Amino acid sequence: NWTMEKFCDLEVEKIRALVGEKGQVLGAVSGGVDSSVCAALMHKAIGERFHAVLVDNGCMRMNECAEVKVALEKNLGINLTVVDASDLFLDKLAGVVNDPEKKRKIMGNTFIEVFEKEALRIEEAAANSPKAGKIEWFLQGTLYPDVIESISFKGPSATIKTHHNVGGLTDKMKNGQGLKLIEPLRELFKDEARELGRQLGLPAELVGRHPFPGPGISIRVVGEVTRERVEIARKADFIFIEEIRKAGLYDQISQAYAALLVVNAVGVQGDKRVHAPVIALRAVKTTDFMTADVFDFSRKFTQTIASRIMNEVDGISRVFYDETPKPPGTIEME
Ligand code: XMP
Repeated sequence: NWTMEKFCDLEVEKIRALVGEKGQVLGAVSGGVDSSVCAALMHKAIGERFHAVLVDNGCMRMNECAEVKVALEKNLGINLTVVDASDLFLDKLAGVVNDPEKKRKIMGNTFIEVFEKEALRIEEAAANSPKAGKIEWFLQGTLYPDVIESISFKGPSATIKTHHNVGGLTDKMKNGQGLKLIEPLRELFKDEARELGRQLGLPAELVGRHPFPGPGISIRVVGEVTRERVEIARKADFIFIEEIRKAGLYDQISQAYAALLVVNAVGVQGDKRVHAPVIALRAVKTTDFMTADVFDFSRKFTQTIASRIMNEVDGISRVFYDETPKPPGTIEME
């Protein structure tokens, strides 16, 4: 009989066998459920030989880095290093327009670059301790749907989208020696990953968090990603999520966010005409993230959001609600 408790115990055993007595594992955490669950599992399996790193890619949600640090350090005792690489990411993203794949590649490759440096730094720091060991492993929170989508999109037509957290990217880490990939959630769907999180004693609000993609807000800012444009999307997103929570709707929605589009519309602000970009709100309900329905807000609710965003966020002209299910739309914008 398969239970999550057994799965958890088995995974812990597998991880210990794989990594050995001295092996060290480097893991990325993003603030999302999957990477937190992975981190908790790894911490349970190998304790201090697991090193969690949060890379601030300049495209995180409002207050994200600070919140993740508290959640993992206070609740779980996981040692977490936050690396602020936002300038590096944003400089590389400058000038990339009309090329979502390029954006994803930049986010993925820069992420590896930052990680590679961090791995060497952690290894050097650990070299003098009695628990010294080489970092040979890299932890990723890849879920079953990520694996499937990456395979099925690589048909005779071009790859539609590169999934930021599916294999291959770690090959060139550590100066070409590479890090071996551990993906303990590879066979799980989202709801199962959440169950595993509860099993591991993660706090309910962390386990219940909406997923957040590795490339972050960069794939929710359609068109060029600049500091200013990320900030607009981030502020609108914060208001949207805050209102969703206030209305008690957060747990009924699978994923929600505000995106910034590249069209400019005309509007009036005060007594001036403005020509400014628009915000799109997206909220979906899904169990497996492979298909998704649009969340059915009341008109009154979306109107409240629109007016708050228009009042509190500068530099935009309108707010739209995305009524496209998946398929044909994807959950993210790019
Ligand atoms: P799409 O947009 O493909 O998203 O319908 C399905 C689910 O996957 C998440 N997603 C990603 N997660 N790296 C991630 O870690 C990525 O590159 C990525 N792209 C999409 C998305 O947020 C949704 O939950």
